[in-house]
Amino acid sequence: MTAGPTADSLDRGQRYSLIGPRSRLAEESGLAEGAWFTPPVEGDRLATLQHRTDGRALADLALWLVLLVGLGTLVVITWWSWWTVPALVVYGALYGGSADARWHEMGHNTAFRTQWLNDMVYYLASFMLWREPAVWRWSHYRHHTDTLVVGRDIEIAFKRPTPIPEILAAFGGVNPIRFLLPRLLRHAAGGRDPEVESFVPSDEWPRVHREARFFVAVLALAAAAAVVWWTPLPVVLVGLPTVYGSWLMVFFGITQHAGLREDVLDHRLNTRTVYMNPVFRFLYLNMNYHVEHHLFPTVPYYALPALHDELRPYLAPPLPTTVAAYREIFTALTRQRRDPGWEIPDRSIPEVDHADRAPIVVSPVSHHDGAVVVPIGQMAVGTVRRIDVGERTVALYRLGPNEFRATDGLCTHGRADLARGVVIDCELIECPKHNGRFDIRTGEPARRPAKDPLMRYPVEVHEQSVHVTIGSLGRSVGQGRTDIEQGLDRSEPAPGAGTTDRESSAN
Ligand code: FES
Repeated sequence: MTAGPTADSLDRGQRYSLIGPRSRLAEESGLAEGAWFTPPVEGDRLATLQHRTDGRALADLALWLVLLVGLGTLVVITWWSWWTVPALVVYGALYGGSADARWHEMGHNTAFRTQWLNDMVYYLASFMLWREPAVWRWSHYRHHTDTLVVGRDIEIAFKRPTPIPEILAAFGGVNPIRFLLPRLLRHAAGGRDPEVESFVPSDEWPRVHREARFFVAVLALAAAAAVVWWTPLPVVLVGLPTVYGSWLMVFFGITQHAGLREDVLDHRLNTRTVYMNPVFRFLYLNMNYHVEHHLFPTVPYYALPALHDELRPYLAPPLPTTVAAYREIFTALTRQRRDPGWEIPDRSIPEVDHADRAPIVVSPVSHHDGAVVVPIGQMAVGTVRRIDVGERTVALYRLGPNEFRATDGLCTHGRADLARGVVIDCELIECPKHNGRFDIRTGEPARRPAKDPLMRYPVEVHEQSVHVTIGSLGRSVGQGRTDIEQGLDRSEPAPGAGTTDRESSAN
């Protein structure tokens, strides 16, 4: 599983730079946008785990907001008394610490079924953490594409060797001041951070500048209120908690990847799952199941314990407690300070038979006239399956009792297997890798980072089977073939023409 360069003469800054030589090496060695290990999960079970519900996410959000407002009120009421200290510690942890898990989950759009709720909480949490929304969306896409790939992943928090003062500084809240604020100000002034430029597409920059200006304006407003009312309370409640509360974010975040292997294409080797108590899991939104999250980022946080049970046969044993995780992390960081190549001894990772990926695949019963024939009984309404025909991968969707559609089976952004994605309201397919979306009927992209449309394939529905016209392998198919794209429901309008076989592109 290990690939790519492991030793070089670069200093630490150059080695981890996204615009340095290691970035080029990662591309040349096949680590960048590589093919990652994915464990098999039965298709219908995966669809159940990927199901989102507003109720559960709203309940958790309401509790967090009530605690936040309550603690903020306590800070105001007890101001300048000894009671202010514990109130501030908890308020800061909720604000600058546990906002991180809300930012993360909403960034994946997985918490709420209703999209605008995900977006609203994402923007709120981004502000609370001084994270520019568009910049961090793209940096997190990259993190999921190239997790812990040196020179590619900007979210590697503990770079080897990690000096002790750097760890203490992270817990002490230095990072938002040292890294995030200067970048925010630079973008607000219309500039561009060169590393950020390497992963944010050029058409996103007007948005980046707008968002940075808005965040700076709100922070400036809090500072102005502090001056006008001659009390530090406004900035103690808005702005500064990002600094004095970030210890909790680091407390949880360090357990994700710190000290684990770099440059491997297997999340079981570079990511950690830790059993945590219910309070921690509420604050951290179950991200302690971090291996599971990386393997299936379309699964909402509240289904991660169930996903963990599902995947257990394929994973290394999780760390049994937070204390055990910290012991492992500090052993690794200490050893790696002396020897940056030192690795935590491999935990027992089970061998997985990749042929066992069949559960998301439907096997055609026959091929004729450039079409494959799939039995209807193999699919429930609202599901997607993969059909492999020669070199071609097709995604077949069942959108109603008699309505089927077919598109390219690989996402046009990063070639992820769409049959592992989520069918949303029988209208959209959400990619399993970065949660980009496509309209199933038109193939058009419906949410970034997906940008290029999917090619569609004509489908005919017969009594007990579906015929998908793939065409002769090796040539473009589906172009101008809307006349034969039909279901038993003849009132279904034929999708518009113009589907072409497109080059895949990944940002
Ligand atoms: Fe990135 Fe599909 S691979 S959105």
